[in-house]
Amino acid sequence: MGKSVLIVNGPNLNMLGRREPEIYGKTTLQDIESLCAQHAGHKDWSIEFMQSNHEGAMIDALQAALGKHDGIIINAAAYTHTSVALMDAIKATNLPCIEVHLSNIFSREEFRHKSYISSVATGVICGFGAKGYTLAMDALADNFDTHK
Ligand code: DQA
Repeated sequence: MGKSVLIVNGPNLNMLGRREPEIYGKTTLQDIESLCAQHAGHKDWSIEFMQSNHEGAMIDALQAALGKHDGIIINAAAYTHTSVALMDAIKATNLPCIEVHLSNIFSREEFRHKSYISSVATGVICGFGAKGYTLAMDALADNFDTHK
């Protein structure tokens, strides 16, 4: 059966392609959305792809996922390292959730090693650039039913 997945992107990810390309690559967020849409097509899934620079808008999108989507993929960007509110919102959805980062946050500054999202995520994919999003979709496919 076709699944519906919410893909949430946090602050500054709208700048991808121009922002620190030596770390994040030259792929734009629009390119990533196209990659995800194509991958979703192969799986017969529908996706909602959103980006916001505002924590509250991300929380609103997560809350709205309840009863609407079967799983979540999130790159919370810098809010990963600060936001108890996003962590709580993910937990409240009770949906399987894959955390994604383009860069390997564990090989970077120490403040990026702490993720509030990881404690409520089904799993984490980081360090593989844009491909992390489609890897996350594959991981989610195997975990729709394992989530409690
Ligand atoms: C990021 C890693 C975060 O530490 C950073 O604040 C970002 C992007 C990544 O995708 O590698 O904005 O989430």
